[in-house]
Amino acid sequence: MVHDKQFEIFISKEKIQKRVSELGAQISKDYAGLNPLFLGILNGSFIFASDLFRALSIDAEISFIKLASYKGTSSTGNVITAIGMEENLHGRHVLIVEDIIDTGKTLTSFMPVLQQAGPASVKIASFLSKPDARRYDIQPDYNCFEIPDKFVVGYGLDYDGLGRQLPDLHILC
Ligand code: XMP
Ligand code: MG
Repeated sequence: MVHDKQFEIFISKEKIQKRVSELGAQISKDYAGLNPLFLGILNGSFIFASDLFRALSIDAEISFIKLASYKGTSSTGNVITAIGMEENLHGRHVLIVEDIIDTGKTLTSFMPVLQQAGPASVKIASFLSKPDARRYDIQPDYNCFEIPDKFVVGYGLDYDGLGRQLPDLHILC
């Protein structure tokens, strides 16, 4: 039980660790010599980001930001601000680290904000992706697991703030 709902194990911690290691090896190969800057999106990505970062065999830096959206004018629609983006991203190879890409709304809004900082490149590494839930045209460049359009908790993801510390990924029954 997490909060008032029943969840069951969907992806075991062993499977997760194996897949994250593979992704770390792949990223190390692709970014060798580029000193990439990992940009973790809080709160959900904190566990994935720390495991992925420790799976690297190359020089890399890491920083975290929090995204907050608010209603803009009718012409700008929803506006997103990045809290804590103090790093100079100009000319850097940025790898966004996200827990899950669901509809794709969050990252679709954030991409133009990030591009304004003049990075050399921007790619996305997500722990999970829900392809069936996608409403915006955005895909992760690196992804650990594709999952069905169901609510999940554990490995950093929460249900109403709880369940982030669960080592396995759980799915709503
Ligand atoms: P979008 O739709 O913008 O969603 O791609 C991304 C953000 O929504 C949260 N999210 C979830 N959190 N279990 C969670 O704990 C889920 O199944 C889930 N689906 C979406 C998450 O914070 C993500 O950053
Ligand atoms: Mg999140």
